[in-house]
This record gives sequence, structure tokens and C-alpha cells, in this order.
Amino acid sequence: MECADPGGALPLPPPLSLPLSLPLSLSLPLSPPLPLPLSLLLTLSLSLLLTASGCDSLLESSDATATDTPGGVTLASLHDRYLKNCANCHAPGAPGRTDATERTLDFSSVETTRTSLAGKASGLSGNQEACNGVSFLGASYETSLLAAVLDYDVRMSFTAGDGCDADAISDMTVRSGPPPGGFLADLAAWIDAGAR
Ligand code: HEC
Repeated sequence: MECADPGGALPLPPPLSLPLSLPLSLSLPLSPPLPLPLSLLLTLSLSLLLTASGCDSLLESSDATATDTPGGVTLASLHDRYLKNCANCHAPGAPGRTDATERTLDFSSVETTRTSLAGKASGLSGNQEACNGVSFLGASYETSLLAAVLDYDVRMSFTAGDGCDADAISDMTVRSGPPPGGFLADLAAWIDAGAR
């Protein structure tokens, strides 16, 4: 594992701060010095932290695209963690698809998910008919039909078009099972960041 020094961007290695901080705290009685055991403890836990994270993750932490950083949530991770299950019914020729299934959604790949989520509901009948023409993604999580079919609180306060509200919106977690922990928060972060 290479660990190039990116021009001093890394924090000072802890061993340097120990010899510095000790004489300082001893020679300056005016500034309240940390008790010796505490400063040792701090130094120790800092070096433990640095060792545990390794220099790779230190260098990459700023441009993380990973799943649990709200700003860095990707559609690929949302699809992989949960939305791909929806393709059991929402995909061309899907085994669970019927005449009543929403007609345009296609969760088979990340790209079809992205494209179809940019559209509007269609082909809904019966109770759900009022949601035809409503965008899957609104300006925010709370105004997104996609969120309303997964999140009880959003569904209860949702209203769009001509009567597309809690009475007309189905709970898709009944069909696909509940989303994994943290999923809805990440979905909210993704939508609220512009759904890119
Ligand atoms: C077992 C089949 C099935 C699965 C799995 C399924 N859906 Fe649906 N979905 C339907 C049907 C059928 C409808 C049409 C409305 C109805 O009958 O409830 C629908 C409608 C919708 C709608 C339109 C809004 C509405 O309530 O009518 C959205 C959005 C939606 N589904 C998203 C999803 C998402 C996201 C998942 C995965 C978490 C999913 N669905 C999983 C069958 C399914």
C-alpha cells in the first residue's frame, strides 16, 4: 500500500506532538496544562485512530461516493441495496407484473431506474388511478411519489394532482419487504440533493 504525502495535508504524526506538548505544558503555568495522563491518553487514542483508518482512507475520505455519507449517496447504491427488488414486478416481462402494475417503472438496472424515475406514473387503475400523471420524483423527498410508496409518514401527508394522496397510494414495502436500515434516510439525501 503506497501512502504518498499529499503536500503536508495529512495531520502531524502523533509521535511529534508528544515531545512538543509535554515541555510546553510544563513551562507555561499560565495556560491551564492538560494533566499528563490525559494528554498521553489523547495522543494514544489519536495514533490508534490513525492506525485503524490507514492512510488510504484518510486520503480518500474527502471524495467518498460510498453509501453512508449523506452527500455522497448514489443511485447505484440505492438500487443495489433495495430498489433492485422492485424489478420483480416493475420491469418489462417481470414475473410479478400484471395489467394493474404501474406501466412505466423499470427497476431492472441502475440506468432504467434513473430514466423511469424521471417520468410520471401511468397505467394505474381503480383506487390508484388518481396518481396517474404524478411525478415519481418531486422537488423534495416529501413531495416524491417514490418516497410516498415506501415511507408511511410521507404517504400520510402526501397530496398531488387530483386526489393522489394516502388513500390512493399503495405501500410498496408490503410487496417488497421493508427497506434495510438507513435506506430511507439515504433516499431522502439523494432526492434532496437533486436526484443525480
Ligand atoms: C409484487 C409486485 C410489486 C412489487 C414487488 C413492487 N410493486 Fe410497485 N406497484 C405494483 C402494482 C400492482 C402497482 C399498481 C398500484 C397497486 O395496485 O397498488 C404498483 C405501483 C407502484 C407505484 C405507483 C404509485 C401507486 O401507489 O400506485 C410506485 C411508485 C411503485 N409501485 C414503486 C415500487 C417500488 C419502489 C417498489 C420496490 C420497493 C415496488 N413498487 C415493488 C406492484 C409491485
